[in-house]
Amino acid sequence: MAEWTFPVFGHGGDYNPDQWLHIPGTLEEDIRLMKLSHVNLVSVGIFSWAALEPEEGKYDFDWLEHVLDTLHENGISALLATPSGARPVWMAQKYPEVLRVSANRVRNLQGGRHNDCYTTPVYREFVRRMNVALAEKFGHHPAVVGWHISNEYLGECHCECCQEAFRSFLKEKYLTLKALNEAYWTGFWAKKYTDWNQIVSPSPRGETGIHGLNLDWKRFVTRQTVDFMRQEIQPIRRLCPDKPVTTNFHGGHMLEDLDYFKFQDVLDISSFDAYPAWGSGDDDKTALETSFNYDCTRSILRKPWLLRESTPSMTNWQEVCKLKRPGMHLLSSMQAVAHGADSVQYFQWRKSRGSSEKFHGAVVDHVGHEHTRVFRDVTQVGEYLEKLKPLVGSRVPAQAAVIYDWNNRWAVKDAQGPRRDKQYEATVLEHYAALRRAGVDVDVIDEEQSLEPYKIVAAPMMYLVKPGVAEKLEKFVSGGGVLLMTYWSGIVDENDLCFLGGFPGPLKKLAGIWSEEIDSLYPDEHNSICMGEGNELEIEGEYECGFLLDLIHPETARVQAVYGSDFYKGMPALTVNDFGKGKAWYLTARPEERFLQALYARLVRQAGLKPLLDSVPAGVQVTSRVKEGQLYRFIMNFGDNAAQVKVPASQDAISGEQVLGEIELSPKQIRILKQM
Ligand code: GLA
Ligand code: ZN
Repeated sequence: MAEWTFPVFGHGGDYNPDQWLHIPGTLEEDIRLMKLSHVNLVSVGIFSWAALEPEEGKYDFDWLEHVLDTLHENGISALLATPSGARPVWMAQKYPEVLRVSANRVRNLQGGRHNDCYTTPVYREFVRRMNVALAEKFGHHPAVVGWHISNEYLGECHCECCQEAFRSFLKEKYLTLKALNEAYWTGFWAKKYTDWNQIVSPSPRGETGIHGLNLDWKRFVTRQTVDFMRQEIQPIRRLCPDKPVTTNFHGGHMLEDLDYFKFQDVLDISSFDAYPAWGSGDDDKTALETSFNYDCTRSILRKPWLLRESTPSMTNWQEVCKLKRPGMHLLSSMQAVAHGADSVQYFQWRKSRGSSEKFHGAVVDHVGHEHTRVFRDVTQVGEYLEKLKPLVGSRVPAQAAVIYDWNNRWAVKDAQGPRRDKQYEATVLEHYAALRRAGVDVDVIDEEQSLEPYKIVAAPMMYLVKPGVAEKLEKFVSGGGVLLMTYWSGIVDENDLCFLGGFPGPLKKLAGIWSEEIDSLYPDEHNSICMGEGNELEIEGEYECGFLLDLIHPETARVQAVYGSDFYKGMPALTVNDFGKGKAWYLTARPEERFLQALYARLVRQAGLKPLLDSVPAGVQVTSRVKEGQLYRFIMNFGDNAAQVKVPASQDAISGEQVLGEIELSPKQIRILKQM
């Protein structure tokens, strides 16, 4: 593994000079504009395969060498990409097996991007040769500070070659067909496999109902993608082992298809591409969703990460492609830094003249000069990042975490019942938001991460519990941790087989309850959570709840609140179980936001955490970064109104001004305060 050692915040973005090679003078003009806008790091070669290998086996690296030399002469560094995000047309024409086969078993035609089989030896060999050549030629180029592997890996292939690899994966995992049949519960509907070759990937034209198979297929797709990436980086590790590698993650809720936590071993630094729909209604909510993605990206390696892509103005694929309002570019860029990013990068540097992204926001517009609002906004971010230099490499010291697990995501969605849309992602986000609103930094981790750094952990809807996880949670709580679990937890094991002997399965002892049934309500139906007299959280009153409602019996747990209506009126709605030195809470239904906020404000205190601010007004979000014991607070107002915040004695990291006590943040304003 190599460390990311870039000494300043990286500012720049996807730079695609190969689209402009036929227009002389563009590179020189780009350099002039990059310097003006304080750009110091660009990603080159992301979709450059056709320019790098115009004909099979004939490499043309001269243009790239000239670009890298020129960047270096001008003090600009580069992340060098491997071009596997899109292959040249000639390759698909001559070797059609490089094209993907969809789940309905039809081979794709040449087109688009991210349309390659990750298994076929033909494609792997093309990629290997290309990456070897790039690493040999540019591995030690002084402009290259790291590698950008492929682009936004995604998707799956169902070709024969992938089916073979899938079966090998299953053989390795189960060893015998008997074990596989048991794990897949194939006694149901006469599904028993009698030959390994009968097993194929799920298909809308065939099998979709074996949940264990569905899960294994998704695991395989992640494994195969990671394996492909491992092969991509092999020559880089060999030829330039000091250069760190990254690949860009993406997705509104982090892409569902690939379990990003499984990339831990192949990444030196994680990266994310963010395209929030600012101005689409509630910016505060959009900001929370975005910060969730950022916190997850950071938590994968638990260290600083790269904002690899974002738009300097509009995002052309959104339903309504709204411009960023004044102030929004600075705020949204700093938000990534606030959550631990060591770069702010854009898609893309120069707006393409043609094809599908010709209207996507870019730093340099079709007009070609610097006298634009967007260019000024970008320049301002560059100036801010320079002033923040002392923070490079600083950590976000989260002592709270929310568990968000891809296996669980897949399994929750696949189950028929207890309602169609179980809203796992939305639910996790609600818990995350309430924790953030309590004014603490939050990590977003999967079930397998260690819980060592944390004092409070939220584990909403932990339907699928992997082996060892219950024991880990028990250890966490018995050591003094505060854990919150909810309804629809501890239902199935890693093969999606229900736990026998009472829910929440392996979490039963920790929760100190038994869940007998679960009810599901229509959207306009509600029950209520009635807080018990003298409950230990000192929360009073009644709160609305609904969606999914667990009917539980306390065993060792103490009841803190009960349902207010229906045939289960009076049954527990919130319990707490003392477990060693800590406490395990169990919430039985999906409550209104007000309740979650009250709950987490108390639980954070119970866990002994000190919020970053005494109170966080609506619309305001706060994070911190720490370096060598020095704390910086990022206070961001995503709301549409001015907000008052009380801060401890601090110095503004941008203006140098000293502040103490109540300060006002105008709408979309950010303050970065160094604790004195
Ligand atoms: C993704 C891709 C980029 C570009 C942007 C546009 O993140 O990685 O190549 O297509 O979307 O928003
Ligand atoms: Zn394939």
